[in-house]
Amino acid sequence: MKRVLHISTECYPAAKAGGMGDVVGAMPKYFPEEQIEASVIIPKYDLPWFREQEFQQVQSGSFYLGLEPVQYEVLYLAPEHMGYPFYCVNIPGKFDRNSVYLDADGEGFRDEIARNISFQRAVLLWLNEAANVFDLVHCHDHQAGLIPFFMKKGYAFEKLREIPTYLTIHNAAHHGPMPWSARHFLPDFHDHDGGLLEWDGHINSLAAAIKCCWRLSTVSPNYLREIQAHLPSLNSLLQDEAAKSRGILNGIDTEVWNPRKDPKIKHRMTRSWKQFKKANKAYLCQELQLDEDLPLFTFIGRLAAQKGADLIPAAIDRVFARGGSANFVILGTGSKKIEGLLQACEQRHGSRVKGLLMYNEDVAHQLYASGDFLLMPSRFEPCGLNQMFSLHYGTVPIVRATGGLMDTVSDIGDKGNGIRFYDGSTEELANAIVRALMLYGDQKAFTKLVRKCVKEDNSWQRSIGAYADEYRMLWAT
Ligand code: GLC
Repeated sequence: MKRVLHISTECYPAAKAGGMGDVVGAMPKYFPEEQIEASVIIPKYDLPWFREQEFQQVQSGSFYLGLEPVQYEVLYLAPEHMGYPFYCVNIPGKFDRNSVYLDADGEGFRDEIARNISFQRAVLLWLNEAANVFDLVHCHDHQAGLIPFFMKKGYAFEKLREIPTYLTIHNAAHHGPMPWSARHFLPDFHDHDGGLLEWDGHINSLAAAIKCCWRLSTVSPNYLREIQAHLPSLNSLLQDEAAKSRGILNGIDTEVWNPRKDPKIKHRMTRSWKQFKKANKAYLCQELQLDEDLPLFTFIGRLAAQKGADLIPAAIDRVFARGGSANFVILGTGSKKIEGLLQACEQRHGSRVKGLLMYNEDVAHQLYASGDFLLMPSRFEPCGLNQMFSLHYGTVPIVRATGGLMDTVSDIGDKGNGIRFYDGSTEELANAIVRALMLYGDQKAFTKLVRKCVKEDNSWQRSIGAYADEYRMLWAT
């Protein structure tokens, strides 16, 4: 069995801030089918899950971050807990906080650069001691982006030169930039290799990873094409590295997302999808005092511009002004401005619009089980998992045609599984909702569509082989 180490700052259920956590938490479970054992390493946070585990220490050490001495220890959890070997790095003072990225004021931690470097340095030191344990190192996003450079060029890491490195880009909007003055936080390397770290005059963790990794993937094929064509500042680099790049669609964890067994929903799927949807919708509508005879539109996710959440309140106004009749339930937290827009919208249309301003996995599962339609008006979406959860639970996705949404949702006009719109404006979103209302009016056609949705295969079994092929290609060279 070949062994692969995934390096990330998130892994569900241990720590999750977004879809990357779901992906890193699920994908490793499916590699044994390919004769590959995947382990995961993330920082140890002061979050409830970590307090409940009994870890075993496998290594400890220290390094100087500039003049600051930093202690770390690597802790291990056997495969029966997560479904694969799990490691975390305890770095007191840096990660023992009750949030993955955000400070109490909702802004990123001010010492993000020092944290990211500390985590990567500890992982490199541990890898160096255990040099022949892993056959490949798989880095996720910029937070692990310096590792391929140091495995290739760091003076102290000569033992790691032959181990292939793989990069997966979940979100190319974040680059992990740092000024050159942060160089004294980094392990030593020769000046003439510094260009590999640089982009636009800064150290750029994502650019360094793109240059130094042996191969890379984005989380959908369409997103790869999009960022090669027009990702601000990095598109030319991505074009240069196109030969080693591939788009591979994410999957969903069908153990966590199984409507037949899901403990987070009120009514599980037994025989008929119609019955499943009806019972769950009735339950939710009673809880929220909504009219269960109306079509139910949901939105689940971060209230952020990327997700187009700001378009929803005005689109709802337009739909009602055009005489549309529907309920809207929005679940999520994020920008205070968008939260304010939603609260005002709820005040205008109290009995039809509910804003649940919280992050709650249980409520999210219930919404997928209860909704008729899911809104995803994303401005950009590298893959998107919500449309896959939604299809799997019989909720019809309404998506803006971007990124991975293009690869997973096609329009009913083309005999597809959902509704697509192209322009990220409130008018277009409102038009898409009106199309959904017309579809819902024809219950026979709507039920047929729901049945089509639930038949789609978005499991990891579909995509894991592509990753295994990528790894094998590197082992063969
Ligand atoms: C990021 C992207 C999202 C993707 C997820 C998992 O959160 O924004 O589109 O599904 O990573 O790869």
